[in-house]
Amino acid sequence: MGGKSEVPLLDKNGKRIDGRDLEELRPVKMEVGVLKKADGSAYVEWGGNKVIAAVYGPREVLPKHLANPYKAVLKYRYNMAPFSVDDRKRPGPDRRSIEISKISREALERVVMLEYFPNTMIDVFVEILQADAGTRCAALTAASLALADAGIPMRDVVAACAAGKIDGKVVLDLKKEEDNYGEADMPIAISPRTGEIVLFQMDGLMTKDEYMKALRLAVEGARKINEIQKETLKDKYKITNLSGGDNNE
Ligand code: CDP
Repeated sequence: MGGKSEVPLLDKNGKRIDGRDLEELRPVKMEVGVLKKADGSAYVEWGGNKVIAAVYGPREVLPKHLANPYKAVLKYRYNMAPFSVDDRKRPGPDRRSIEISKISREALERVVMLEYFPNTMIDVFVEILQADAGTRCAALTAASLALADAGIPMRDVVAACAAGKIDGKVVLDLKKEEDNYGEADMPIAISPRTGEIVLFQMDGLMTKDEYMKALRLAVEGARKINEIQKETLKDKYKITNLSGGDNNE
């Protein structure tokens, strides 16, 4: 992220390096219930990102002294696999993953009904298997699906998306080269029902008008992501036999 890039990110027709229009999302695929042992799980492919989320709980708080008699403790671990990026990533937590875990947990604390489960812990793990920018958004989107899959009561399903600026233009959903060589990147997450912004970050520079446009784009992007989340959950949990009669499938 820095000044105007030496590498052209838009072609003469205004198309992006992967052929997308300025306001176009990368292809997104979602699935829930992908892990047997977890209480809830989800897999999200978002452009070149591949992310898996697992939820355990509400369960016993460990270490015990962290227990809160008024509400559940929510934990969130964002982790990048060593093979998820071009250069091998050193395994284990680093400043970046600790920051992403913190802001993602805070986003989910706005919607998860923690007050229903005092003296318990809800663990959310997200593993980035393949990274191509926007992994914190893909991770939070997957985590929210996994929480829903675990049947944990929530006010809403959090959806995330980034917008930013490349070659002087405001664009939706930056990929790696656009994030690296572009001028700004602004990941956000929303609670779609209320419209509340539950995560907001920005890297780089934009004018006020560009910022307003990027915010609108990112919120619209997150709403599209939320539609896919809802379809994914509906598909998984749809009742195929309402008659209650014989079903020999
Ligand atoms: O992934 P996200 O956009 O949320 O976070 P970022 O810190 O802006 O990182 C952007 C991208 O840089 C990641 O998605 C990875 O593709 C890449 N990256 C990397 O190659 N090695 C790292 N240690 C961290 C990030």
